[in-house]
Amino acid sequence: MKTLCISLIIFGQVHLQTSSSLASEILPNNAVQATYDAHYFDQKLDHFDKSNNKTWKQRYYYYSELYDQAKKIYPSIPLFLIISGERSVNYGTQTNNSPMYHLGRDYNALMMQLEHRYYGESRPTPNITVENLKYLSSQQALEDIIYFVDKMKKKFGMKCNNEVVVFGGSYAGALAAWVRLKHPDKISVAQASSAPIANIYDFAGYNNVVRNSIKLYDENCASIIHEGSVKEEELTKTEEGLKNMTDKFKTCRSLTNKNDRRAFFQNQIDKIGYTVQYNGTLNQSIPATCKLLTGGNETDSIDKLANYLIETSGGCTGYDYSDNIKDLRQTDYTNQNQFRQFLWQECTQLGLFITSGTKDSFYANTLGVDFYTDRCKDVFGDKFTAEYIKKQVKKTNAYYGGFNYQQSKCLFTQGQLDPYQAAGIKESNDKIGYKALIIENVGHTRDLNTETKDDPPQLVKAREEIKQILKGWIKAVDFSKQPTNVPSKCQKPQKQ
Ligand SMILES: *[C@@H]1O[C@H](CO)[C@@H](O)[C@H](O)[C@H]1NC(C)=O
Ligand SMILES: *[C@@H]1O[C@H](CO)[C@@H](O)[C@H](O)[C@H]1NC(C)=O
Ligand SMILES: *[C@@H]1O[C@H](CO)[C@@H](O)[C@H](O)[C@H]1NC(C)=O
Ligand SMILES: *[C@@H]1O[C@H](CO)[C@@H](O)[C@H](O)[C@H]1NC(C)=O
Ligand SMILES: *[C@@H]1O[C@H](CO)[C@@H](O)[C@H](O)[C@H]1NC(C)=O
Ligand SMILES: *[C@@H]1O[C@H](CO)[C@@H](O)[C@H](O)[C@H]1NC(C)=O
Repeated sequence: MKTLCISLIIFGQVHLQTSSSLASEILPNNAVQATYDAHYFDQKLDHFDKSNNKTWKQRYYYYSELYDQAKKIYPSIPLFLIISGERSVNYGTQTNNSPMYHLGRDYNALMMQLEHRYYGESRPTPNITVENLKYLSSQQALEDIIYFVDKMKKKFGMKCNNEVVVFGGSYAGALAAWVRLKHPDKISVAQASSAPIANIYDFAGYNNVVRNSIKLYDENCASIIHEGSVKEEELTKTEEGLKNMTDKFKTCRSLTNKNDRRAFFQNQIDKIGYTVQYNGTLNQSIPATCKLLTGGNETDSIDKLANYLIETSGGCTGYDYSDNIKDLRQTDYTNQNQFRQFLWQECTQLGLFITSGTKDSFYANTLGVDFYTDRCKDVFGDKFTAEYIKKQVKKTNAYYGGFNYQQSKCLFTQGQLDPYQAAGIKESNDKIGYKALIIENVGHTRDLNTETKDDPPQLVKAREEIKQILKGWIKAVDFSKQPTNVPSKCQKPQKQ
């Protein structure tokens, strides 16, 4: 086996210029020890057009050593699949320290990971023009998973009695929940971590959680951000105020320009939101942010806010809107951060535009949804009006049911601090048979990360609970618990 060269790309501040906080999930650190090669298989281009028989190469990884051994003595070994979202999967599945790997070991599972279409090396079309992006949707991605699973089960000699268990975080968490929802006969169990399963057009709820999470640490810190923002809103009302603010915040572009102004506010929201979303990881933390916000010698909250943004921006604050649009208009796959693809998904299906649009919002009335819809239009064309996007988001919710999730054996995990919980499921529903688990004082998809010695005790405990819930749903033999039950000879398959 060749050792893959792992390049761990963590999207830091660059990412902030796109607003898709969702795009910055941090699963890659699960897999620093990947030692398995990439594989490719022929995936269908369009699952919904029977007359289209075009295919493309989709990338996947697998780890089959445990399975290969155990299948000789027991026929119902499960397939564990990590569903990937809006990023490259440039590593394998032998994720030595990941929660899926630990659970998978107890079942001698066949462990796999599938890259999402249009990301990484999984490229269904030669480029990503608007015409060619029409095959990029969550519906197609779900059918990719099903087609893949069918193919792999055949390839590895699995039958209907080999259950499939899926895992995903963030957008991929929503995919995990949705693939179980739409194909319960093929997917037996799902874990959806920090999954925004309700597609909300004007996603003001995100910043309500940001406010609450900061308040948990320091009320005064939250007040400074809010009061500073109220003053910012005030300054945006006059030309002179905007000029003053441009100086005060050392902005990259003059705030008298509407697009650059909205970009500035979007950047402010993203920057602070990111530290909450990833609290305690990726060098992000609420305490560090609040130290900067409360620690200075400025007396006015707007000056404290300006100081924070300047200190953490390395140069000017905000960004150049038209440069960003130029970047997002590039129609080849060479753009490393792949923001164009996810922006397409937001503009055509997902919404989740993070706003602050009323005076009592956390950042006062500084950023409406118009910024995002205009950006969709500037990048993808005039068809992308607010009405069109709203309608598309509505359709997505109609297709999946939004908050009204209707399937059993899906575990929704949420970090208590995570702003995306505002679009996710937070309570178990025994009647339908799904469960929710809130993990205290952690952020986005933290439960899927590699276990480390710095993990807070409630996270360690939650991981154990997650394991037990999933074990309760998986029918296969748990080799860690009942080794004496393992049949010595091949038995007839269990009934599904
Ligand atoms: C795809 O369909 C076309 C027309 O129906 C046919 O000529 C072609 O052989 C098919 N290709 C494959 C790979 O099945
Ligand atoms: C994009 O790919 C299509 C083929 O799918 C090709 O016809 C078109 O010229 C390409 N456009 C650009 C801008 O590369
Ligand atoms: C802008 O700054 C000048 C100079 O400090 C000050 O006199 C003026 O009141 C400010 N204007 C606004 C709208 O804040
Ligand atoms: C955030 O993470 C830090 C560790 O970096 C931790 O001390 C703190 O309790 C966490 N929660 C909040 C609300 O700050
Ligand atoms: C976190 O901060 C430390 C010390 O400032 C630095 O060495 C490290 O590279 C940073 N890590 C990330 C992921 O930014
Ligand atoms: C505030 O602190 C900075 C250095 O941290 C110093 O340069 C500045 O003079 C101080 N301002 C006041 C008003 O004390």
